[in-house]
Amino acid sequence: MALNSLTDPVSELYGADLAHIHHAAFGAFSAGAAPGLLALFCQAGIHDGLVVDLGCGSGIWAGALTDAGYGVLGVDISPAMLRIARHTAPRAILVHASLFEVEIPRCAAVTAIGEAMSYDDGRHPGLEPLFSRLADSLDRGGLLVFDLVLRSAHRGMNYRRRTRGDDWTVEVEVIEVPEASTLTRTIEVIRRVGEEDRVSREVHRVRTFSRKEVESSLRDCGFSVRVSRGYGDYRLGPQRLAFRARKP
Ligand SMILES: C[S@@+](CC[C@H](N)C(=O)[O-])C[C@H]1O[C@@H](n2cnc3c(N)ncnc32)[C@H](O)[C@@H]1O
Repeated sequence: MALNSLTDPVSELYGADLAHIHHAAFGAFSAGAAPGLLALFCQAGIHDGLVVDLGCGSGIWAGALTDAGYGVLGVDISPAMLRIARHTAPRAILVHASLFEVEIPRCAAVTAIGEAMSYDDGRHPGLEPLFSRLADSLDRGGLLVFDLVLRSAHRGMNYRRRTRGDDWTVEVEVIEVPEASTLTRTIEVIRRVGEEDRVSREVHRVRTFSRKEVESSLRDCGFSVRVSRGYGDYRLGPQRLAFRARKP
């Protein structure tokens, strides 16, 4: 692909082109997770009420929730993701905010799927203050469900991967530093729009966690915790775990 223009060279989280590609090519994640997540809600006796979806992205899971009769408040830091979500989940209330700062209303459940809590904005100390606020906002018996990237025990992940679609190419370089509990993804995006190849670059800083530290933070906030490798039949990728925390 010839590179005709360079747009959006600064690091932004899910700018227009990466948001478009994420929705079109990686939406299978939230679509695949949705049936297992809905089953978890039913098992917990949560059949209606408000679900807060943190890092709602392009709104695929939020749309599945409204289709199933739940009220949804979707929160995301990326305006481009929210623009897509307005079409995907037209009945959800969508808010542009950081999940670390947004005011959480009283609700039946909170979700943060697709590693939404892992992104490090450099300003927040960790997940426990968020867990504590979520515990205060959830109804009795309410559920908090999310997945995270786990820290490597020894050598960190270090690889490059190129993925192509009909009119785009994404090249990701992943470098994990386990001693610092961080993982950096440098993402080069080329998207053909009309006659033009648009190029953008994003750097995503992600925090990594140990299963024990997350379980212990959740228990300190009064949750009971269960951990799984996915949502129902849908398995998460390597070094990912799903946490299901229930308020007594
Ligand atoms: C990998 S995407 C997953 C999106 C969606 N949950 C899904 O499963 O398709 C991660 C999402 O988290 C959002 N995100 C990252 N950090 C955030 C923050 N501090 N506050 C709100 N949203 C955030 C990103 O903008 C992105 O939409």
